[in-house]
Amino acid sequence: MLFKQQALLRQKLFVLGSLAIGSLLYLVARVGSLDRLQPLCPIDGRFGPRSQDEIPLRALQFKRGLLHEFRKGNVTKEQIRLHNLVQQLPKAIIIGVRKGGTRALLEMLNLHPAVVKASQEIHFFDNDENYAKGIEWYRKKMPFSYPHQITIEKSPAYFITEEVPERIYKMNSSIKLLIIVREPTTRAISDYTQVLEGKERKNKTYYKFEKLAIDPNTCEVNTKYKAVRTSIYTKHLERWLKYFPIEQFHIVDGDRLITEPLPELQLVEKFLNLPPRISQYNLYFNATRGFYCLRFNIVFNKCLAGSKGRIHPEVDTSVITKLRKFFHPFNQKFYQITGRTFNWP
Ligand code: A3P
Repeated sequence: MLFKQQALLRQKLFVLGSLAIGSLLYLVARVGSLDRLQPLCPIDGRFGPRSQDEIPLRALQFKRGLLHEFRKGNVTKEQIRLHNLVQQLPKAIIIGVRKGGTRALLEMLNLHPAVVKASQEIHFFDNDENYAKGIEWYRKKMPFSYPHQITIEKSPAYFITEEVPERIYKMNSSIKLLIIVREPTTRAISDYTQVLEGKERKNKTYYKFEKLAIDPNTCEVNTKYKAVRTSIYTKHLERWLKYFPIEQFHIVDGDRLITEPLPELQLVEKFLNLPPRISQYNLYFNATRGFYCLRFNIVFNKCLAGSKGRIHPEVDTSVITKLRKFFHPFNQKFYQITGRTFNWP
């Protein structure tokens, strides 16, 4: 008898436990789906008009929800009208530098509720064929956003392409320009690593970095090598300064963005006149990746793709020393112009 009662009690406890776990799982799933469902509801006042300068303190997951749904094509024209969604030209552009951490910067800024990113590199200003399609073509490439939000795009080729500063100036002479830089020699090796990986994928052989970076005839740094030229930041910046005053640029420390992203992002928020909204909660270190990853909410987080954070090949130390010596005077000039000093060797 006693045994039967105990069995019954165990059965009851099991049912209750299952119910509790079930409810918990339901709640978690619900929170996860809220950001997808909420935006589809027309809640007046929540989206009502605000003063132009005011950035609503909308939950991060809310912004993600609607815009994400739209990108997937799940939002109707009616919803665009209802929520007053628009495709806006960028108010800020990450113009470079390639391999400086441009993707990480864009993705991290996108954590801000008032920022909307253009996911793809659009290459409007550096590609003549695209540029010939006109500014409306460019605008239509932009994601949907609320009118109070700002759109940001990144195309790192802009920084080094001759025609780009004038073209951007013609679109918007007061646009804000973000440049993310890394220690020039490391950046050049990162650039090389990317090209090398592309060659290997196609089963092609490629030169060693040392062979490309050093001219075998003179034994000097090969300034014709693109990865070297791109790292002469001051040369490129000087071209931009013919069109834009230095106040319109903000230099991001790409090396610090890797190790300590928050303070770098806070400086960008300030530069863009955005209220500080990105917090340590939004960034967590992933030991497996060896990088900071992004946390949008309790359910949604992501790390950058594996193509970001490649292992660099070993490079002869004498070549590294030579390159660092070569970049040194250009770096000094860069610090002088930008007012931002780095501890580059
Ligand atoms: P490496 O692959 O040399 O490590 P870009 O996006 O401009 O191509 O820059 C790529 C670089 O972004 C990577 O270079 C990586 O070091 C850097 N990076 C910065 N923050 C990162 C992050 N959180 N996750 C992955 N890569 C990051």
